[in-house]
Amino acid sequence: MTALWHRTGPTISVSPSEPTPLGRRYDTVVVGAGLTGLVTAVLLCRAGQRVAVLEARAVGAVTTGHTTGKLSLLQGSVFSQVRRHVGDEALVAYAEANREGQAWMVRELERLGLPIDRRDAVTYANGEDHLDALERELEACRVAGVDARWADDTGLPFATAGAITLDDQVQLQPIEVLAALAAEVLERGGEIHERRRVHGVEEDGDALQVQTAGGVVSADRCVLATGVPILDRGLFFARLEPSRSFVTAYDMPEDRIPRGMHISIDAPDRSLRTARGTDGQTLVVVGGGAHTTGRGGDTVRTLAELDAWAQQKLGAGPRVTWWAAQDYQRHASLPFAGPLAGGHGRIFTATGYDKWGMTNAVAASLAIVSQMLGGRLDWADTMRHAGPGVAGVADAVRVNAEVAAHVAVDWTKAVLSGSGAADLAEGEGAIVREGARPVAVSRVDGKLCRVSAVCTHLGGIVNWNPAERSWDCPLHASRFSATGEVLEGPAVRNLAAVDDDRSAAEG
Ligand SMILES: Cc1cc2nc3c(=O)[nH]c(=O)nc-3n(C[C@H](O)[C@H](O)[C@H](O)COP(=O)(O)OP(=O)(O)OC[C@H]3O[C@@H](n4cnc5c(N)ncnc54)[C@H](O)[C@@H]3O)c2cc1C
Ligand code: FES
Repeated sequence: MTALWHRTGPTISVSPSEPTPLGRRYDTVVVGAGLTGLVTAVLLCRAGQRVAVLEARAVGAVTTGHTTGKLSLLQGSVFSQVRRHVGDEALVAYAEANREGQAWMVRELERLGLPIDRRDAVTYANGEDHLDALERELEACRVAGVDARWADDTGLPFATAGAITLDDQVQLQPIEVLAALAAEVLERGGEIHERRRVHGVEEDGDALQVQTAGGVVSADRCVLATGVPILDRGLFFARLEPSRSFVTAYDMPEDRIPRGMHISIDAPDRSLRTARGTDGQTLVVVGGGAHTTGRGGDTVRTLAELDAWAQQKLGAGPRVTWWAAQDYQRHASLPFAGPLAGGHGRIFTATGYDKWGMTNAVAASLAIVSQMLGGRLDWADTMRHAGPGVAGVADAVRVNAEVAAHVAVDWTKAVLSGSGAADLAEGEGAIVREGARPVAVSRVDGKLCRVSAVCTHLGGIVNWNPAERSWDCPLHASRFSATGEVLEGPAVRNLAAVDDDRSAAEG
């Protein structure tokens, strides 16, 4: 389960095997080395700042390294949804942000001499009942000044009810991009520290104290580029809807691979592009199977359904690899990039890209850096002040009601579950009760793993994800390995070991 981008991209070598010592004080500490964190760090280094990037795992370890990597202004049904939820002015600002994000990235690729793989983007409807959704998207594109049109030929080997298209969008190799950004940060005297999970940020006089397992770092400013903001200030986690999807790559005869970047507007959710394989061959990449993290049920079956679809609809050959990732949508609203509530203008964050972060992450970085350095971007101001609207509030209420229902049901199930170690087959996991406490037991690589089933973020009961062999929290999407290490999400501490759960272990 290694993303194709990690297999075919350059090795990013920024830190030796042991965590590197941290300097005493920085102008800005950026937390997270995905696309948001590294673009922000590059921009701040170019402005002459002393910058450190603190990354819990490794560069590109989470969503950016597992994306489908389309740098596109045609974004499924996003433009019409933005228009419906926050209106035309906000839509125009959103389009401007994405246009700037796309243009910045293309300029960087040109400057670095990296290939610019231009493709037509296509959004298609499977069913006639979704043709009106395509019409709405086309109209929203027109309002936003994006030159989409009806597609005469989708380039797909199966029939669709209809499709719209936009010429000349770009598909990225995200690890190549991250490698180039990381290299520039280092060349300009910035620092990137991997395996440095940040646990908190406190104010201390005129400085911020950024707390990590390996010590405290001082900075004037901090940017949380962690996907979902890790600090609970602003209660962002309660205003975001996480969605996790699978991505698969298949061999197939090159002349039969659709050349465009396709996405469906209705079920089944599918996203297609091409990519280079490890032997230089062209592969077809298929995304789909979106589900709320921690509520995906039988994820092994979901993955098998993707395989079956690719074989039946595209005539794809054997699957070469697969991976999965999650991203966050703000309830019926726009991505956020700006100061975190309660951070006194010194802690910034960016989130809510809704699976369109290749453009939105760059735009968010531009917005944050411009704010930090006293600049002004009109589209960023408009986006920051665009309210969620009635639909957004209703959505937030619905999602939080679902979260509350999960708390009640999952804890009741945990209390009523059987006691003692379960008799589990390889790759299975179950919640069992030991005394009063719920324990997450799984068997991975023949080894029985037992950890607390209580999420260290806010106490949800984790669920087993059989495809990825991880414990995923259904409340706000923290994920943990079978042995309890934090993988992603708002949690900053590992699941407690059951034999010593007096306190959660350090992440
Ligand atoms: C399946 C899928 C397909 C997608 N396809 C596309 C696409 O085709 N086009 C597109 O535009 N967008 C796409 N996206 C969206 C896009 O990939 C993301 O929006 C983008 O990569 C997010 O970047 P990021 O830097 O914000 O987050 P990440 O890449 O997740 O980076 C966050 C980093 O923060 C680190 N971190 C977290 N917590 C801490 C902590 N406490 N201390 C230190 N570090 C921490 C993490 O380890 C991680 O490396 C897709 C998303 C998904 C899920
Ligand atoms: S992620 Fe919030 S309780 Fe688990």
